[in-house]
Amino acid sequence: ELVRHGAYNLSFPGDPEWEIPRARLNVEKIIGRGAFGVVSRGLALDLPGKPGWTVVAVKSVQDDASEKEKLDLLSEMSVLKHLDPHPHVIRLYGCVTTEARPLVVVEYAQYGDLLGYLRKSRGVRDNYYSDPSVEPRTSLTSKQLLRFAWQISDGMDYLSKRKIIHRDLAARNVLVGDEDVCKITDFGMARDVWEEDIYVRTHEGRLPIKWTAAEALFGDGAYTTQSDVWSFGVVMYEIFTVGGDPFPGVYMRDIPALLRNGFRMSRPKFVSATLRGKKVLVIGVG
Ligand code: ADE
Repeated sequence: ELVRHGAYNLSFPGDPEWEIPRARLNVEKIIGRGAFGVVSRGLALDLPGKPGWTVVAVKSVQDDASEKEKLDLLSEMSVLKHLDPHPHVIRLYGCVTTEARPLVVVEYAQYGDLLGYLRKSRGVRDNYYSDPSVEPRTSLTSKQLLRFAWQISDGMDYLSKRKIIHRDLAARNVLVGDEDVCKITDFGMARDVWEEDIYVRTHEGRLPIKWTAAEALFGDGAYTTQSDVWSFGVVMYEIFTVGGDPFPGVYMRDIPALLRNGFRMSRPKFVSATLRGKKVLVIGVG
């Protein structure tokens, strides 16, 4: 039943269980245009179990998308199809497969991605995130930051129990919804570990180096739940620096050699060594 990656060329495998009639979907406004796709806000009528109009996010590919980009979208959808709704994972509503470009319809998270959310909390003039010697000024409390970290770990715990490896966990791939609840998204690189192709690294050109575990960088794509935990550590860095850049000042091309030599990010100057009054052991990310 899984969408096979090679199938797109032949025909899009429609799935009646998830198909949303095109006429019940209004795509309204582009809210994000990345290198790999386009996200729009839209309204969907009478989704299963949701009578009336629901605000949704609609993911698609650019007009000039490569086959690989289409496959990433299909891969994302096939992963989400096998998940029950979870409060800390973005929910799939369905898809439209009757047009040339497939549309994937997911839950809308009104506050956008966590990285932007953290950085906006500093106000426009604070550009600390590229200079860790400047103390961040944020309107968020440390309790709120801790809640973000907990929610993401809860979502990742769920994914790992469902044998899903995300492979691209980063604050930019976490969305913030109603009541500031974090939801993991962007499963374009995720793989179900039961699928045979997970051991093949197919994303050579777009590895998120600063978020990728050493063993996944050096091995031939040895991604595991444990390598997702490494990425979670980098997300913790992003959260507790309120949107800081990991490995500040380090060129991406230098990261593999540094990691190989045992280099790890140190505790940022303005991240406390205590958590609720208790000393925390900081052993470096990873
Ligand atoms: N940007 C990317 N995906 C989104 C979503 N599901 N909701 C809101 N903004 C988004």
